[in-house]
Amino acid sequence: MTAFRPMAFHLETERLTLRPWEEADAEVLLELHRERDTGTPSIERAREAIANQQAAARDHGFTLLPVRRRAEGDLIGYCGLIVGRSTAEEPEIAYELFRRAHGRGYATEAARAVLAAAAETGRGRLWSTVAAWNAPSFRVLEKLGFERDHVTATAADGGDLVWLTRTLP
Ligand SMILES: CC(C)(COP(=O)(O)OP(=O)(O)OC[C@H]1O[C@@H](n2cnc3c(N)ncnc32)[C@H](O)[C@@H]1OP(=O)(O)O)[C@@H](O)C(=O)NCCC(=O)NCCS
Repeated sequence: MTAFRPMAFHLETERLTLRPWEEADAEVLLELHRERDTGTPSIERAREAIANQQAAARDHGFTLLPVRRRAEGDLIGYCGLIVGRSTAEEPEIAYELFRRAHGRGYATEAARAVLAAAAETGRGRLWSTVAAWNAPSFRVLEKLGFERDHVTATAADGGDLVWLTRTLP
């Protein structure tokens, strides 16, 4: 393991709160998984995903965090850092929100806070891998200052996967 500092696991923005997963979040995470077209969602898989993120927090000092709206108190998705297709030294930023929460700047707001928290760990840069069709995700990353680096043909749908990177201050 490297000498990076652990990421802050409690983040506040103007409209959002990010804090560690609790086992009770599994029901809502299952609903989020059900919104996707792929896979076979189940409560066991949702619990497993939470346990995996808790393990990542321990093992790597970073994780995905559930995102809650401060005013409404509801869980609208998650945002954070994962090894993903990259490395623990230069992890990927990742996010997913319920459809009802799209289009209001929440992903950008959450990801901006995660970017700042990532910089605080002492890391030099982040990555993101995005399927070529995913215009909203590209726009979020563009707003955060990510730049396209290269393309591989390994997206889950068999299409192009775009690798973007962002140097941290
Ligand atoms: C990607 C995702 C998290 C974005 O969440 P969001 O809260 O709607 O994002 P924001 O509102 O912060 O920003 C979205 C931007 O994309 C733009 N956008 C939305 N649909 C678009 C489209 N079809 N073409 C171009 N731009 C689009 C919005 O206008 C906005 O940009 P703006 O602020 O300049 O107007 C959400 O779409 C999602 O959960 N998708 C499913 C999971 C996913 O794809 N995760 C990323 C995997 S790499």
